[in-house]
Amino acid sequence: MLQTNYQEALAHPIFKTIQQAAKELQLDTYVIGGFVRDFILKRGSAKDIDIVAIGSGIALAEKVASLLPNQPKVQVFKTYGTAMLRTEDIEVEFVGARKESYTKDSRNPIVENGSLQDDQNRRDFTINALAICLNEDRFGELLDPFNGIAHLKEQIIKTPLEPSITYSDDPLRMMRAIRFATQLDFKIELESLQAITKNKDRIKIITKERIVDELNKIMMSPKPSIGFLLLEQTGLLSYILPELTALKGVEEVEGQKHKDNFYHTLEVVDNIALNTNNLWLRWAALLHDIGKAPTKKFSKKVGWTFHGHEFVGSKMVYKLFKRLKMPLNEKMKFVQKMVLMSSRPIVLAQEVTDSAVRRLVFDAGEYVEDLMTLCEADITTKNPKKFKRYHNNFKLVRNKIVEVEERDRIRDFQPPVSGEEIMEAFNIKPCREIGIIKEAIKEAILEGEIANDYEEAKELMLKKGKELGLTIT
Ligand code: CTP
Repeated sequence: MLQTNYQEALAHPIFKTIQQAAKELQLDTYVIGGFVRDFILKRGSAKDIDIVAIGSGIALAEKVASLLPNQPKVQVFKTYGTAMLRTEDIEVEFVGARKESYTKDSRNPIVENGSLQDDQNRRDFTINALAICLNEDRFGELLDPFNGIAHLKEQIIKTPLEPSITYSDDPLRMMRAIRFATQLDFKIELESLQAITKNKDRIKIITKERIVDELNKIMMSPKPSIGFLLLEQTGLLSYILPELTALKGVEEVEGQKHKDNFYHTLEVVDNIALNTNNLWLRWAALLHDIGKAPTKKFSKKVGWTFHGHEFVGSKMVYKLFKRLKMPLNEKMKFVQKMVLMSSRPIVLAQEVTDSAVRRLVFDAGEYVEDLMTLCEADITTKNPKKFKRYHNNFKLVRNKIVEVEERDRIRDFQPPVSGEEIMEAFNIKPCREIGIIKEAIKEAILEGEIANDYEEAKELMLKKGKELGLTIT
């Protein structure tokens, strides 16, 4: 039987306080949107609560704040007629019910007061338009004018109004539809998909930051490929990440084909999502092959090659992050490093030598495990024998990393003999010989010729110095 009372969703004490405030101001008040949706989906209790008042949302927020024991500060956004307060573990946003129309080239709506029905009409999806009344006499009553509950059961994303109106009113919703489809593993209704495809160029009026917010949510979903396939299918991807659409397709010359690097990439992202919640490592998986489009070549002798794609790809990461206004800090550098090094363990897995492992650990430093996770995700062969062999080889590499680390502590490599010591030993001022000696010591350690140890390094320093014609003081 369909449940009609949702009082149990309102167990948090804040709802009683809002009820009290609404009573004093004589306003009809509802909790709406994501909170209701996530309660019904049992997605854990939401930390964001959206309240809609039939009247002034700001006045309601101020009243609520005055009734709360800690009297939190109310943040008011006058232009939007909204107010927000934080109390304990939750963030509550208040808005007066609105009837909205949007100007053509901006997301900023012209706001007019409206009824609950008007407000529900202007929401993005039927599953986000569900409202529960907070007034004393109707506490827990569900208002579901667009069959949102049924759509939650059918696992479908649908707009309350004609889809092209909803999407063209606020084009960010195109991304939101795809994001919810990915997070919840829902289908987007056909008319909606068609409307997104038709309106795709309106995404241009959305700020990069908001687009990236949605992309990050897609990326953090259990199976990100759902979102990227939808972005591709609707044509949005070529606006947002043309580097990825460029990977699409299989070319054949003289009977030789290369794999479709777009679908391969999506498999890698899904694989890595099973093993890490590090957003930036997931980004690295998404971008690890972007250098393949500009470096692709065919020659009769060797067939398809993508020489230097890791280097080219890592340079493209910077441009992509800059274009999308993503952080150009150590997160970006991490993604670049992963892309640059993405083929290293694969080459190494063919023959696992101590010195190659030491070099890998030296170059990857603290990110060597992340790099291994990326390379394991990169195994997408459908041949079970190869799949097993590659994974086993990577296991060997991982074991070797531990072994080499225990012995040589390469990860956080500090030269065992300092420049000062070299200057002192040979009584010299700063000069290029110091660099040569330091490099020789580092190389000898990585090659396994000497241990990462002070005494052995000092001995080599003296020997190298002599070779360079320096005299010991
Ligand atoms: N909303 C909308 N159109 C948008 C953004 C939001 O109609 N472009 C409405 C939806 O009713 C949504 C509510 O505002 O449920 C709150 O938005 P938001 O907090 O961004 O999303 P949630 O649905 O709460 O989901 P999440 O927290 O996962 O983003």
